[in-house]
Amino acid sequence: MSNQTNHRPVRKAVFPVAGLGTRFLPATKVLPKEMLPLNDRPLIQHAFEEAREAGIEEFIFVTGRQKEMLEEHFDFQPELEQVLESRNKQDMLAKVRESEMPAGKLFLTRQPKALGLGHAIWCAHKLVGNEPFAVILPDDVFLAKKSCLAQMVEAYNEWGGNIVATTEVTKEDTARYGIIDIEEDNGRTVKVKNLVEKPDPEQAPSRLAIMGRYILQPEIFNHLSAFETGAGGEIQLTDAIVKMIGSEPLHGFRYEGQRYDCGTRLGFIETNLAFGLADPEIGDQVREILKKHIKGNDEYALSA
Ligand code: UTP
Repeated sequence: MSNQTNHRPVRKAVFPVAGLGTRFLPATKVLPKEMLPLNDRPLIQHAFEEAREAGIEEFIFVTGRQKEMLEEHFDFQPELEQVLESRNKQDMLAKVRESEMPAGKLFLTRQPKALGLGHAIWCAHKLVGNEPFAVILPDDVFLAKKSCLAQMVEAYNEWGGNIVATTEVTKEDTARYGIIDIEEDNGRTVKVKNLVEKPDPEQAPSRLAIMGRYILQPEIFNHLSAFETGAGGEIQLTDAIVKMIGSEPLHGFRYEGQRYDCGTRLGFIETNLAFGLADPEIGDQVREILKKHIKGNDEYALSA
């Protein structure tokens, strides 16, 4: 199947950012999880830059209560820029400008209640309209030569249909992800027969897990609008994707690069270390700091 060219281009990306971030409480009581800093910029900016690198032209945020900071982060800040200009801090000025959203490119919709990822995506249906679109979960981040979404857009240009980012996980970890039931494994891409959300590891159809990047056809909204709840009592995106199998090809895409999970405390610490080590400005110093700490020092251990 497929290998046709001229699939409709992916111009829009949806960023669901209305979740409660309960695994990070109390840090996320007021601060949105997506504003947590990874190295020198918040998670949402990493997500935005990845989408921009992939050629995305319109950025759609699905936000909720207490999430206004996310849109403000992309504003032009004239006072700040003036101060940096007057102090001749050109490097910092350039960094600040990287976080500015071009006029007319940011679109906002709200999810009134955090009913699940599928529901969050449905909330963007008017803004997406009748064209294929990308979904980026900002708490999944990647270190890669070419961004994960840019790789997926290339795969989409070849295959069309729906595409999900995938990677192998351990058997125990299958319980944390949407897992692929493989129809045909072609190496870089996998033809998908079914998806199972957070299966019991004994029942997992494979170890190939879905990571937080998707390219989807707009017909998904017809299925999401049924508001059916799935695993964990949430309206799941994977359930709606499964309903499209048969009418749209569904491929899992094995990206090149390393994915990090910023949705958990431990994952967040690991991700910051990995990004610090990979940063040419501070990588060597981070390595030295790690060496110092690896020896262990429980003199000032935090109480449990
Ligand atoms: P998570 O599954 O990590 O949920 O969502 P969460 O609420 O952010 O965090 P925990 O599990 O309570 O710790 C993945 C992405 O989907 C968004 C989140 O904001 C996050 O970016 N999301 C999730 C929504 O926008 N709405 C929802 O109803 C659920």
